[in-house]
Amino acid sequence: MRTGVDVEVREVGLRDGLQSVSTFFPSAEKIAWIRAEAACGMPEIEVCSFVPPKLIPQFTDAVEIVAAALEIPNLSVSALTPNLKGALRAFETGVHKLNYVTSVSESHNQSNVRRSTDESVEDFRRIVEARDQHAQAANTRLGVGLSTAWGCSIEGAVDPDATMRLAGRFAEAGADELAICDTVGYANPTEVKALLSRVVKEYGDGVDIAAHFHDTRGLGLANVYASLEAEVFRYDATLGGLGGCPYAPNATGNIVMDDLIFLLEGAGLRTGVDLDKLIAVREIISRNLPNEALHGMYALAGAPKGFQSTSQVA
Ligand code: COA
Ligand code: ZN
Repeated sequence: MRTGVDVEVREVGLRDGLQSVSTFFPSAEKIAWIRAEAACGMPEIEVCSFVPPKLIPQFTDAVEIVAAALEIPNLSVSALTPNLKGALRAFETGVHKLNYVTSVSESHNQSNVRRSTDESVEDFRRIVEARDQHAQAANTRLGVGLSTAWGCSIEGAVDPDATMRLAGRFAEAGADELAICDTVGYANPTEVKALLSRVVKEYGDGVDIAAHFHDTRGLGLANVYASLEAEVFRYDATLGGLGGCPYAPNATGNIVMDDLIFLLEGAGLRTGVDLDKLIAVREIISRNLPNEALHGMYALAGAPKGFQSTSQVA
């Protein structure tokens, strides 16, 4: 974690947000968005996915986007991939962190990445091996996102023990980070605190633990608060709450980055991000995606009188 920061927030709108948007977001505008957020102090941005361009044309420019992002000082650049082929493409770029994805629910894994969770674990082992042997990737950290960790829109409730077992297999296989993901907004704060406390206790010594929430049923920020109580200090979110999942029916946006920062800074936890400067960056999204709804209450209401975030003071 960057020095002077208590909680690491990570912008995932360029990946989780844009993957479900069919309008191509011009490459120069993606780069403008990344630069503008980095200039607000955002520590990490997931800038694209290495997936078949035929399947998700939004990420045809993945190599170009990573290259441009890597030129920005003090920014950790991450990208997502679902398989070895994508990892090999990503390693060539020298990306700082690669996020691999597997669902706890078998049905969601089949629908999202067309294979069983066992096959996904095996593919991840090959990715770890490939990273260890790849000259460009010596410093690339490997994160694993465990999707549908609390529930799945195909299978319904997901057994917390199943999530724990899969987390254990990825920790053992060499994951540097485990991001526990409520892909479709099924979790509530009680379940979140219970599961994440177990994950932190069991795996938190050797592996960074992160959480990824969608606000599908309005509990996104309450779930963040519950995660803080479980001592999780890394969160994904998207500016303006852009997002969804193309392979999960009725999935809606990620938690809103702007509101997340308001929550954290209000609790005295430094994010390093200048919130009011960040609000202005929403305009880059709205000018390129005029038909996408942007969310966020802080952007609507503005700062409470006298509010100053710890990151602005610093
Ligand atoms: N990047 C570029 N091309 C890739 C690729 C990657 N990461 N993975 C596979 N391909 C290519 C293959 O080379 C092959 O090309 P060809 O038809 O020219 O021979 C083609 O895509 C199909 O490959 P295959 O291995 O059979 O993949 P698949 O059709 O079984 O699909 C995934 C599997 C994982 C690639 C696909 O389901 C996927 O990308 N899912 C991710 C969806 C996603 O991003 N969800 C949201 C994130 S949570
Ligand atoms: Zn997501």
